[in-house]
Amino acid sequence: MTDALSVADLMHKPAVVVHEGITLADAAKVLDANKVGAAAVLDGGEHLVGMVSERDLLRSVGHCIDPGSTGINEVMTRDPVTLRTTDTVAAALDIFRDRRFRHLPVMEGHRVAGILSTRHLVRVAHIEEVQPAGSAPPELAPRGLEGVAVAETAVGDVRGEEGFFHYRGYNAVELASRCSFEQVWHLLVEGSLPDDQELAGFTARAVAARRLPEGIADLLRQISTLPNYTPLSALRSAVSVTASALGSAPTLDISAEQVRADSLRLAALAPVLLMRLHRHHQGLAPVDPHPDLGYAAAYLQMLTGERPAPRTARALEQYLILTMDHGFNSSTFTSRVITSTGSDIGSALTGAIGALAGPLHGGAPSRALAMLDAIGSPDRAEEYLRAEIGAGQRLMGFGHRVYKTDDPRSTLLREVATEVGGDQVEFARHIEATALRVLAELKPGRRLYTNVEFYAGVVMNSVGVPRDMFTPTFACSRTVGWTAAIAEQAANNRLIRPSALYVGPAPPRPLPHGYGAALRAA
Ligand code: ACO
Repeated sequence: MTDALSVADLMHKPAVVVHEGITLADAAKVLDANKVGAAAVLDGGEHLVGMVSERDLLRSVGHCIDPGSTGINEVMTRDPVTLRTTDTVAAALDIFRDRRFRHLPVMEGHRVAGILSTRHLVRVAHIEEVQPAGSAPPELAPRGLEGVAVAETAVGDVRGEEGFFHYRGYNAVELASRCSFEQVWHLLVEGSLPDDQELAGFTARAVAARRLPEGIADLLRQISTLPNYTPLSALRSAVSVTASALGSAPTLDISAEQVRADSLRLAALAPVLLMRLHRHHQGLAPVDPHPDLGYAAAYLQMLTGERPAPRTARALEQYLILTMDHGFNSSTFTSRVITSTGSDIGSALTGAIGALAGPLHGGAPSRALAMLDAIGSPDRAEEYLRAEIGAGQRLMGFGHRVYKTDDPRSTLLREVATEVGGDQVEFARHIEATALRVLAELKPGRRLYTNVEFYAGVVMNSVGVPRDMFTPTFACSRTVGWTAAIAEQAANNRLIRPSALYVGPAPPRPLPHGYGAALRAA
C-alpha cells in the first residue's frame, strides 16, 4: 500500500510557515493556533531555510532561554532534508526510520507544499505491520462516518441542501401539518398511510397497548426515588425493565408480525412510563391515559391530570410528528446495530435512548429557552447577541450540520408557536429576527439559520411540558422512528460488524521481563 500512496496524499497542506527572525513565543503561537507540531521557516524571498518544531521550543525553555526575546533562528534546524510531493510513502518511511526525523517539509519545485510528520506515517506503518502478509488493509471510513451510506432504508431521508426531510417519501412537514400522530405512526411502522378502517384498528391496538405489564407500576415508583433522578435516564431504565416484563424475545427468533406487535406495545407505553415517573417524582398520583384520547392529547392529560384544549394538544402533536424520525441519525443507527445482533426490541430501544441522551444528539431544546430568559427583554437582544458571538459563543437554536438553509422543522414550529400564542412567542420572533441579522453580519457566508431547537422549546413551554421533559418527549416520539428502523433491520438482517485500523504498538509485544511472576508462583 505504501508503494501506491504518495507523500502528497498524507502530508498536512498547506504547510504552516513562519518567517525567520520571529521570536520563539510567536512561533509557539502559530503552532498552537494551527494545531501542528512543526512549521517551515522561510526567508524574505519565501525560500525554505529551516524547520522549527515544538521540540525545539520546549528544549529552549529547558535551557532557560527567554522565548519572548529569542529568535527562532537560534533553535531551528537549518537546511532541512526535504521530500517531494511525488515521493512514495515507502521512500519517506525509510528516511524517517533512518534519520529519526519527526517532521519534514515537502517541496513542489521551490515551494513548500506541505509538511509530513511521523504521525501521518505511523498509521500506515502499523497497518503494514499488523496486516497478515498478502491481505489488503481495510479502508478507513471518514471520521464519524460522515457521508458514508451503511444501509439501505425505505423509512425516510434528510436532504440538507434542499431543507427537506420525508417519511417514506412524504414531506414530513406536510404530514405534520395535515395528519394525526397515529396516521404518521402507521405510515412509519406499517409502511403506508392508513385508510379509515386501518386507522381505527391501529388506534384501538395502540390504546390497548398502553396498559402496564404486571409488576411495573411499583418499579416505576422506585425508579422515581433513585438518587440523581433525571427523567431521561429514568425512562431508559423503565423501558428496559418493561421490555423484560413483557418477555421481549430476540428479533432473530420472532416473526415480522411479532416484531411489529412488540414495537407497538413499547412505543405506546413510552409516554405512560415517562409520565408515571414524572408524577411520582413530583409526589403526585399517576394518571392513566384516557382511552378516548389520542397519543398527543393523552400525553398532556397524563402529565397534568386534565384533558388538554384541542389546540394545545394539536400543537404538541405537530412537534411529535416532526421529531418521529430524521434520516440515519446516531440513535437510529444504534437501534439497528443492536437489532443486527438478533437482540430484542427492548435492548434496541434502551440503547437508542442512551445514544439520544448525548448532548451532541438529543441536544438540549431547553438551552434556546434559557437564552431567551438570559436576554430578558427585547431591548437587550442586540447587545446580548453581539456580545455572545464576540465572545466566541454559539447562539442556541441556530445553525445545523445538515441543513444549510431553513430547517423545515423550525419553519413549521414557528407557525405552530404563533398559533398557540403567548407573550413568549412574540419575544422569540424578535430574538430570532435579531439573531439572524447579527449572524449574517458577524458570521457572513456560514449559512446559519434557525434550527428545530429554537421553536421546539417555545412550543413545548407553551403547551405546559416542563423543561426537563423536553428531551424525554423527543425520545417518546423518536421511538416510532426507531421501531420502524428495527423492523427494517430485522426483516433483512446482516450482523453489523465493521473493523477498525489498528494503530497501537506493533504486535506481538513481549510482556515486560518478570511480569506476572507473582501469579505464577502462587
Ligand atoms: N452561533 C454562532 N456561530 C455559529 C453557530 C451559532 N449557533 N453555529 C455555527 N456557527 C459558526 C461557527 O462558529 C463557525 O464559525 P467560524 O467559521 O468563524 O469558526 C461556523 O459557523 C461553522 O460552524 P461549525 O461548527 O462548522 O458548524 P457545525 O455544522 O459543526 O455546527 C451546530 C452545527 C453544532 C448545530 C452549531 O450550529 C451549533 O453549535 N449551534 C448551536 C447549538 C444548537 O442550536 N444545537 C441544536 C442543533 S439542532 C439538533 O441537533 C437537533
